[in-house]
Amino acid sequence: MHEGPALFDEAARDAFYQRLFPIYERNFGSVAAGPQHVVQMTHDSLNEQRSAEQLAMLEIAVGEPLRGKRMLEVGSGIGLTTSVARKKFGIEAYGIEPGDDEYEGSLKLSYDILKAAGVDAEAVRYGVGEAIPFPDDHFDVVYSTNVLEHVNVPPKVLAEIVRVLKPGGVAQIVVPNYGSWWEGHYGILWLPHLPAWLGKLYVRALGRDPDFIDTLQLVSRGKVERWIAPLGPRIDILGWGTDVWEERVTGLGFSEYSALGRLKSILRIFHKLRVVPLLIKVGKLLHWETPIILTFRKKPAAPASGL
Ligand SMILES: C[S@@+](CC[C@H](N)C(=O)[O-])C[C@H]1O[C@@H](n2cnc3c(N)ncnc32)[C@H](O)[C@@H]1O
Repeated sequence: MHEGPALFDEAARDAFYQRLFPIYERNFGSVAAGPQHVVQMTHDSLNEQRSAEQLAMLEIAVGEPLRGKRMLEVGSGIGLTTSVARKKFGIEAYGIEPGDDEYEGSLKLSYDILKAAGVDAEAVRYGVGEAIPFPDDHFDVVYSTNVLEHVNVPPKVLAEIVRVLKPGGVAQIVVPNYGSWWEGHYGILWLPHLPAWLGKLYVRALGRDPDFIDTLQLVSRGKVERWIAPLGPRIDILGWGTDVWEERVTGLGFSEYSALGRLKSILRIFHKLRVVPLLIKVGKLLHWETPIILTFRKKPAAPASGL
């Protein structure tokens, strides 16, 4: 259904790879699980299939085709998902991206990726999730993946997402869970709810750069519940991603993006030990699901109570 030619040819893809790799090497070289992890991250960011998988999951959550819908991606990175949304899914997609110091170059690169994909440059604009540069009630769908852990004020971003959603619109926010056993930037096992100071000692002991921890919001299910609580009267929560986590841990059918191949190897040991049902049971109780996939619908506007 979303088949078709690649957005750009091999030569263009290689040229983007050559520009993106130094950015990732600079920002994640001392964080990642080795040079191959950085290579993998760069390939993943330029992988159309990954964007298509994300959009297909979003489409299932929304419960109807995304074609023709107006969608915003918050933290659109290098603009690939916004481009795939436009060209392959027929979505009227927009992205906002600060392309700040940490991800220096993302915004500039995204304009070139949009151009190469034949997408209007207007599709992505500078902006932060804390102050989304669009009017109220504007989008049918808002999507954000791997961004909430990098923003300065997560509750403000969630409030802004609700503000720009149309009544009846659906938002999906995908974010790593630091109440789980996995840290994907480093590609390491994590201890649920590890405080930042202890996390820094831990990664230092592994020979990795601890300072990156200070740039992260250590998001957990409880924290998201607290952040979203003031918005409770305006939204209906459709899911937290627990089912997706259970399916992935049980079936091991997930794609091995970033360092997820390592996680899969660890999970295979649990399968051999036949402790997966127990893992799922305890994990559901203690909210080990990762990533958190928060999906909610903005409540329809209340009918005017005119006489
Ligand atoms: C790990 S990247 C993810 C990019 C993209 N969503 C993806 O999955 O490929 C995190 C992105 O969040 C962006 N970001 C950081 N702070 C932000 C904020 N306050 N509002 C919106 N985006 C932000 C960064 O510039 C970066 O592009």
